[in-house]
Parts: sequence; C-alpha cells; structure tokens
Amino acid sequence: MANKKIFAFSIRKDEEPYVKEWDEQHPEVDVEYTDELLTPETAAKAKGADGVVVYQQLDYKAETLQALADMGITKMSLRNVGVDNIDMDKAKELGFEITNVPVYSPNAIAEHAAIQTARILRQTKALDEKIDKGDLRWAPTIGREVRDQVVGVVGTGHIGRVYMQIMEGFGAKVIAYDKFENPELKKQGYYVDSIDDLYKQADVISLHVPAVPENVNMINDDTIAEMKDDAVIVNCSRGALVDTDAVVKALDSGKLFGFVMDTYEDEVGVFNEDWRDKKFPDDRLWDLMHRSNVLVTPHTAFYTTHAVRNMVIKAFDNNNEMIDGKEPETPVKVG
Ligand code: COI
Repeated sequence: MANKKIFAFSIRKDEEPYVKEWDEQHPEVDVEYTDELLTPETAAKAKGADGVVVYQQLDYKAETLQALADMGITKMSLRNVGVDNIDMDKAKELGFEITNVPVYSPNAIAEHAAIQTARILRQTKALDEKIDKGDLRWAPTIGREVRDQVVGVVGTGHIGRVYMQIMEGFGAKVIAYDKFENPELKKQGYYVDSIDDLYKQADVISLHVPAVPENVNMINDDTIAEMKDDAVIVNCSRGALVDTDAVVKALDSGKLFGFVMDTYEDEVGVFNEDWRDKKFPDDRLWDLMHRSNVLVTPHTAFYTTHAVRNMVIKAFDNNNEMIDGKEPETPVKVG
C-alpha cells in the first residue's frame, strides 16, 4: 500500500520503462508522471506529491519553485547533472532540498567525445560528403592518427578520466589540467603547470569542466591565439565554455583544424527539436552544422540507454531518500 507519492515531469518515451521499473520495485511509493515540462502552470499536476523528479533545460524560475512550495513540495530531484538553470536564491528562501545525478555514465560522454575526436582527425565528414556525391578520390581528405596527437584534457573528473583512457588506448600522448588535481594522475605525471601550458602543447583540447563563472568563455580569441596551428577543440561539456564567435573566426582563418560541439551556448530551445519543416532559428549554428570540419551533435553525448536508466533510477532513489528524511546520496548545495 503506497504511503508516499513522487511526481515526475517531462518523462520522455525512452525514460518510461525505467520509471515503470522503479515503480514496480517500490510498491510503497505512488509514482505518477507527465511528459510536460515543469512550469508555474504545470506545477499543479504534482499536487499531493511528497517530492518531484525533473529534468529540463528550461529555467526552474522563482514562480515555478513558488508554485511547488505553495503545495508543500520542496523536495526536487534532477535526473541530470547541471543545476545552472535553477533560481538558487529562491530555492533557498523556500527551503528547497535538491539532488542531482552527477555521475550517471561518464563513459557515455567520454566515448562520444572520443569518437568525435577520432572522426574530426580523420576528416570523416568531408569524406562522407565527397562519397555521397560520388567523388571517391583520396586527396585532399587525409587523416591524422590519434597516436600522433598530444591530447590536452581540461578537467579530470569522472568524464575527463575515461576520455583520457580512451585516447591513450588509441596511443595519444595525454596531458591534463585541472584546478583540483587528482592525486593519482598527479603521481603519474599527467598535469601541466597551467592551462596556458596545455593550450600551447596540445593538438587536441577536450573540455570536461562545469560552466562555473570562471570557466565561461574560457575558449576565446586570446586562448585560441595561444594554441598550436591546426588545433582541434572538443566541447562535449557546456556551451558556455566556448565563445562561439571566436571559434568561427579561427575556423575561417584556418587556425583551427576542426571543432567538435555537442553543446552550444544558445542551445536551449533549439536542440532536441525537429526543425525540418520550420525556419531554423539560429544562422550561426546552421553555418557550423554545414561546415565539413565541424561536428555538431545536439547535446546527445549523454544519450545512451545506460545513462538514461541511471538518471531515472538514481533521481527516484534520491527523491525517496529525501522523503524518508534520510541524507540523499547526491545532494545539491542550495543557495
Ligand atoms: C546534464 O546531465 O547536465 C547534461 O548535460 C545532459 C542533459 C542534456 C541531460
């Protein structure tokens, strides 16, 4: 007999089996859900719930949090990592307890970054475009081998470390920078002294850090100028890390060999939408999508069955723990 209730917002079709799996394993919890996003208007759907499980790129703004709090709901569990879209001041004022899922599958993102790194070096997009047109000549689409590259990894958390292993598997020389160094990696001599050293030495620069204020636009005109000619930038982390205009300039001038972008500073409302029969809303993104040396994916690095299952199950576990008054496994600092 259920004695508590969790309501989940914006449940996608691919998440539904995992919601049902969790529900079946927790007869003591009444689980309800909708495919709608959490907004001030839809919040009422959660009436009577003890907590909510959510994921969206749309802001959790003050009015939304207020609407939940007005119904006595202040336990909110995110199915993702990023918390930059939550009005934390309001959340604090209303006494919200929030959890996220910081580690759902580092391999999902690291693998995607590694695949795209190898693809950009082998110029696979340019080659596919030629093949599509019936041009089967080799030149000038010659590849660069991963083992010949110095791969610079910015951020050596869970994802950065898996990416390092994969790149080493390909035979690359890996160097790293992180403000918070991992003792094991330090012992093994991966770290360069400064991020500028990494920019100067690396052929491939892959970003695996959060978009905290100090990291915003870390890739800009000045830092690109420090990089080697023909460098490659890989951003499967957060769009805000990259000044996209600076990258476009560097692609135009030929300074950069290529750019991998799974995240984009203006992606909200554009990625994960079908634009086939509509006017595409972002000319700069459209231009990047159609360059042979730019690989755009719409924030899908995370999107694997393994990751999605973990995101759902861990978020529900967290919410349930908060409802039971226990310390959840992965609380978010509110405020
Ligand atoms: C996150 O977990 O914050 C991500 O970046 C993936 C998201 C699109 C679900």
